[in-house]
Amino acid sequence: MHRDTPRVVIVGAGIAGITMAVNLRNKLRHDNFVIYEKAGSIGGTVVGLMFPGTGTCLSTEPNPYWENYYITQPEIRAYWEKIYRKHDLASHTVFNTRVTLVEWDEENGVHNLTLEDVMSGQTIQTQAETVIQAVGFFTTPMYPDIPGKEKFTGPLWHSSQWRHDVDLKGMTVGVVGNGCSATQFIPAIAAEPTTRVINFCRTPQWIGMRSNYHYPEWAKWAFAHVPFLLHAYRSFMMITVLTWYMRRTAPAKYHDNLIPTYPPGCKRLVLDSNYLAALHQPNVDLNWTGIQEIVEDGIVLKTGNKVPLDAIIFGTGFYLAKRDVVFRGIGGHTLKHYFESEGGYYGTVFPGFPNLFTIVGPNSASAHASLIFIIETQVNYIMKLMKPIINGKAKSLEVTQKATTYYNTWIQRRMASTIFLSCFSYYRGDNRTGAKNVATFPGMISLYWWITRKPRWDDFKVVGGEQWFYQRRKVALMNYALVGLMVSVVGYNFSMLWKLVPGRW
Ligand SMILES: Cc1cc2nc3c(=O)[nH]c(=O)nc-3n(C[C@H](O)[C@H](O)[C@H](O)COP(=O)(O)OP(=O)(O)OC[C@H]3O[C@@H](n4cnc5c(N)ncnc54)[C@H](O)[C@@H]3O)c2cc1C
Ligand SMILES: NC(=O)c1ccc[n+]([C@@H]2O[C@H](COP(=O)([O-])OP(=O)(O)OC[C@H]3O[C@@H](n4cnc5c(N)ncnc54)[C@H](OP(=O)(O)O)[C@@H]3O)[C@@H](O)[C@H]2O)c1
Repeated sequence: MHRDTPRVVIVGAGIAGITMAVNLRNKLRHDNFVIYEKAGSIGGTVVGLMFPGTGTCLSTEPNPYWENYYITQPEIRAYWEKIYRKHDLASHTVFNTRVTLVEWDEENGVHNLTLEDVMSGQTIQTQAETVIQAVGFFTTPMYPDIPGKEKFTGPLWHSSQWRHDVDLKGMTVGVVGNGCSATQFIPAIAAEPTTRVINFCRTPQWIGMRSNYHYPEWAKWAFAHVPFLLHAYRSFMMITVLTWYMRRTAPAKYHDNLIPTYPPGCKRLVLDSNYLAALHQPNVDLNWTGIQEIVEDGIVLKTGNKVPLDAIIFGTGFYLAKRDVVFRGIGGHTLKHYFESEGGYYGTVFPGFPNLFTIVGPNSASAHASLIFIIETQVNYIMKLMKPIINGKAKSLEVTQKATTYYNTWIQRRMASTIFLSCFSYYRGDNRTGAKNVATFPGMISLYWWITRKPRWDDFKVVGGEQWFYQRRKVALMNYALVGLMVSVVGYNFSMLWKLVPGRW
């Protein structure tokens, strides 16, 4: 370990952690970093994806050779493994190592980290000047609080912890949930005709066709300038087109249950992976009765009737705010409060947590666009924030409480005029609590890119870099003065030219 430059620890080797490492090497030419990953391989949620039937690209590594618009899991894995090898990240990664605690030592300006070797259970202590939290959004599976889960004698699992050792042939399988995950793996498991699938649903989902199209420039201009056009178009697309698609594709007997009454987009829109068509199969049934409890050999409905089952799969989503690493900042405070209710600053930094940078923090997830773009945007922003630390011009950087409060007031004001508050969803706690939405960014991802394209340094407290900070401010003021001078000179010259126009004397 060389301590002549600040040591950076990246927690997590998912897409975010890898993207961060590639950029640290390429853009900041910084090599003193290590990635701790609790799993035994790279990739996280998407690359290490677990359930059947699924279908990414880093913009610094565009790939022109994808086979299809929606790619398969082996292609995703091969793509990310190639990037990982190309940038020699293996020599920087420690697998099977869970970061359990990251504590800021104010006196020494370093983070003290506690690691756990997940194979041996051994605890290890280490330090880093800067820590990147890249642990993902979907790491803690949500097992619903249905009573009796522990009584079920057959195999029972969550979609994120797929039991590849269980052959579902000839089994009756109960699937709880009808979100993106369940609707993706149901058609895949139901492709085996001897597997009978009973899907237990609670709330209808808006399900749309997987398709893509390009908006011509005139349409974008019209959306931006013609009053109400965008809203009218949105309503048409979302309600008329989605309803038409769902009615056309799903069996008529399910239409009333399947089509939601809340506005589309409030929950994450499900893109159909042949789920609606699979509902026509004789081995697939929907059940909307409601679950009372799980017993040793099945599910008992609210009517008291029992549905006998051989296996149960929970496609019941994730707790976004729950992580298995605890961060302690100044005064021993944790990040819990920021993730559950206050929100952070640009979803990336938090007051009281110097030199800690988060990828996909509060209010930074895109609800209906690729998270990869958000990850890249945040990595670029973090690189700019870290530069003075890496270059030795500052020791630590911490966002102010005032800037964080101001930012979150803006976020929640915008949120109030969005459809995100019109239904329950995992953006608002555990789907049922109706808490504040501290998950998604209430705007277009291009707006998020715009506001994070460069740091507003006045929103930060800098320790050990006061000289750099004031120098920067001086240069910024000089630039403003220069621009002001140029505008005055150009203005003056124009006024002179204007006077030269014949008849203007
Ligand atoms: C089923 C599913 C499908 C998805 N499909 C798409 C898609 O097609 N397109 C898209 O844009 N998004 C998709 N998403 C969202 C997706 O989660 C993100 O795009 C992407 O995985 C985010 O990458 P990440 O690195 O931030 O998080 P993750 O992929 O979750 O990676 C985090 C990594 O951190 C590790 N880690 C966590 N805690 C610790 C710890 N304490 N110590 C050490 N290591 C730790 C984890 O093991 C993991 O490897 C999908 C999500 C799910 C659940
Ligand atoms: N792009 C992809 O390929 C892809 C694929 C899969 C997942 N993802 C990502 O992963 C996210 C999570 O998707 P997900 O489907 O895993 O989770 P999710 O969207 O949160 O869906 C969870 C489902 O489980 C149901 N549920 C939860 N608790 C329940 C209970 N106690 N009883 C009955 N039903 C219950 C929910 O019903 P209610 O609606 O009633 O709460 C919902 O239908 C997605 O939003 C998406 O971002 C992406």
